[in-house]
Amino acid sequence: MADEMKRRDFLKAAAIAAGPAVISARGANDKINIGWIGVGTRGNAAIDWLHTAAPNDVQITSICDTYDGYIARAKDRVKTIWGNTPDAYKDFHDLLAKKDIDAVYIMTPEHLHHEMAVAALKAGKHVYVEKPLAHTIDEGFDIVKVWEQSKKICQVGTQNRSSSLYKKAKELIQQGMVGDVHFVRAFWYRNGLPDQPSWRYVIPADTNTQNTDWPRFLGPAPKRPWDPHRYFQWRLYWDYSGGISTDLLVHQTDIVNFMLSKTVPASCIASGGVYRWTVNDDRDVPDTLSAIYDYSDKLQVNYSCYLGNEYFGYGEEICGNEGTIRVMNRTDLYFEPETYNSRRPGAQNRAPEPIRSRKALHINGPEEYKEVDGAINHFKNFIQAILGKEQVIAPPPVGQQAAISGHMATLAYKNQKKVLWDDANRKVRYI
Ligand SMILES: NC(=O)c1ccc[n+]([C@@H]2O[C@H](COP(=O)([O-])OP(=O)(O)OC[C@H]3O[C@@H](n4cnc5c(N)ncnc54)[C@H](O)[C@@H]3O)[C@@H](O)[C@H]2O)c1
Repeated sequence: MADEMKRRDFLKAAAIAAGPAVISARGANDKINIGWIGVGTRGNAAIDWLHTAAPNDVQITSICDTYDGYIARAKDRVKTIWGNTPDAYKDFHDLLAKKDIDAVYIMTPEHLHHEMAVAALKAGKHVYVEKPLAHTIDEGFDIVKVWEQSKKICQVGTQNRSSSLYKKAKELIQQGMVGDVHFVRAFWYRNGLPDQPSWRYVIPADTNTQNTDWPRFLGPAPKRPWDPHRYFQWRLYWDYSGGISTDLLVHQTDIVNFMLSKTVPASCIASGGVYRWTVNDDRDVPDTLSAIYDYSDKLQVNYSCYLGNEYFGYGEEICGNEGTIRVMNRTDLYFEPETYNSRRPGAQNRAPEPIRSRKALHINGPEEYKEVDGAINHFKNFIQAILGKEQVIAPPPVGQQAAISGHMATLAYKNQKKVLWDDANRKVRYI
């Protein structure tokens, strides 16, 4: 107990007294204890990433999940990567009740983020919560409020903000390389094999009502009889997910906001449907979605996503009046100055100086920065913030701005109406 008090005092002091001396003064027991809630696809993979990000500053002491198979897998993973065996829980409240846990990672389905993040902050834990911040706009604002009262560190999992490639893109835009920006095209195109429909993730063969906890999975969602499809493929159902809008689009509207220093769009129209995955498929969420956002200061973001063809991949294209920056597949950044119609056969480059003298550029992120994406930096940033050495790059208000864009697309699509963002009242209106 005395040791535990000493350890917690140390962490508190570290958060106040930033500086390299803090690290060197630490002993073996001064590690930040992590509790991990949700060790499914993302959670299990991220156990390794945290080790890469902060092997000496943290340890995973507890995990929580509602499927025995994933608990066993994650215990093994922690043992292999970190060398210890964490204790395990099915009820996240039990994990949060552990006084020696300093921070939690929340990597559960979207509809559970709110109750888990709020409970964790109220229990005095620092929180890393996956995107989207929450399942509804109101839930997101509630998390922001509780976080403000808590004075704890909270990072939302919009990791593109921590990617060096996107930071470079932002820098180039701020330097004026593309001139004024009034139009952005963003897209994510994916496909699944005919017998592997998009987001129909594998249901483990042994799954049953004994080795999962269906009521805890449902949480605040409407009660229903056990359904393994809903449990393992929750992204396909409105009760637990916004589908494309909150799973994929939020990453991209978020990073456009980051690159262009924007917050919440003024309006959104959206259209689409379940067009591709129609045979024996009870999915609610569209597999085809386009959303058009207008911002109050003369910017349009044109977003599209289709889950039946992957040819054009993933990208954000910043179409400035004097040049274009494209970040493709989160790995390649291209800059090209405008040439004003010289793409036509035989046409001249009509760009005036100094636009003409700007050199085209290509940066490959993995080669240049040794980063696959921003996730490991994002984890590092969270841990460094707990240690009082950095500010998190995606605190709840920023995560909420990203989530609002996603919710606006869902609401515009579902209601088939244009959605306006009413910032004063912090809610949407329809016209
Ligand atoms: N930032 C990114 O790029 C990125 C990528 C993928 C997923 N995600 C996010 O990560 C989160 C998880 O996604 P996933 O693909 O890993 O889903 P998943 O279904 O593979 O994993 C979710 C896990 O939560 C567990 N779970 C369900 N209810 C629970 C409860 N009440 N208590 C504890 N555990 C519970 C499930 O058993 C499962 O292991 C989502 O919010 C998703 O949007 C983010």
